[in-house]
Amino acid sequence: MSRIILAIESSCDETAAAIFREDRLLSERVASQQVHEAYGGVVPELASRAHQQHIVPVVAQVCKEAGIKRTQLTHIAFTQGPGLIGSLLVGTCFAKGLGMALNVPLVPVHHIKAHLLANFIEGPRPQFPFLGLVVSGGHTQLLWVESYHRMELLGQTLDDAIGEAFDKIAKMLGFSYPGGKHIDAHAGKGDPKAFSFPITRMSGLNFSFSGIKTAVLYFLRKASKEQADFAKVRLDDICASVQYALVTMIEEKVSQAMAQTGARQLVIGGGVAANSELKRRLRAHAEQQGWKVFIPSVAHCQDNAAMIGMAGYYHLAQGGAAIPSTEAVSMARMPL
Ligand code: KG4
Ligand code: ZN
Repeated sequence: MSRIILAIESSCDETAAAIFREDRLLSERVASQQVHEAYGGVVPELASRAHQQHIVPVVAQVCKEAGIKRTQLTHIAFTQGPGLIGSLLVGTCFAKGLGMALNVPLVPVHHIKAHLLANFIEGPRPQFPFLGLVVSGGHTQLLWVESYHRMELLGQTLDDAIGEAFDKIAKMLGFSYPGGKHIDAHAGKGDPKAFSFPITRMSGLNFSFSGIKTAVLYFLRKASKEQADFAKVRLDDICASVQYALVTMIEEKVSQAMAQTGARQLVIGGGVAANSELKRRLRAHAEQQGWKVFIPSVAHCQDNAAMIGMAGYYHLAQGGAAIPSTEAVSMARMPL
């Protein structure tokens, strides 16, 4: 009998569900939360409440679109962590309740691992082992990936995540939250060499993105004293120069990690993997070096439930156990 997996994602501010038949995606839905825009960042309590409102209709929609009755489900995969604890609790409790009612086991999924497994949803799949790069609003990590269960952290940011740096700088420039995509759009029209922002080089395979954020803040303060509308007039050039520096920091460490591990495949995931400059530079670098690079579609770079279902499938297919629904717990911090 083939596995029919319902997947649920609720770690931050997207409530998402998907249905898989084995490793094939049948349907998916994401309900985004606009409520945070006015606050310039995710407000955890508001996120939890919005998840509660969205989760039942989102799950009903994916079942309907896949033509699957709840009684046909064989597993429920859910994001166990890491993430906002209140948000995670909504998804976990929903999964537990439904699992108990239907008497089906649960598959706990690691959100960061799932961002990499997003590359298995469409198109040609990577082959294990590979170098993984996760670039999101909460994480910037390089991982050596032997299987879903065997991932080793090689390096990570010691302060802000790259998405956080994009969003904080975007806020300084007057963009709404999350601002990464706005910087990307304006950067496409600007000169990346117009201004020079610091490229922080940490030891080993670690990153740091707090220095550039502060540098941009002081740069804007100084420039706007001399010309009040500086940020407005030079917006495209500022965005292009900031993005150039941020992407350079990623490209340098990826290059170092590929050499260190001898990897031939680079697999990228997370919201910032949707960035056009990051994609362009890493693809060009890979072509020059003869590596293969895998980047999900934009919808699967951002938080979604298809990646949770794909990870849930690999969790089971590579020997992981499903757990009774009574044993499901949420974890704000979750080891690999
Ligand atoms: O993976 P994700 O949806 O949520 C987390 O798990 O954090 O990532 C969200 C992050 C935000 O910081 C957002 O600004 C950033 O991804 N992002 C982008 C782009 N699209 C989304 N950053 C730069 N360029 C983009 N095109
Ligand atoms: Zn994420």
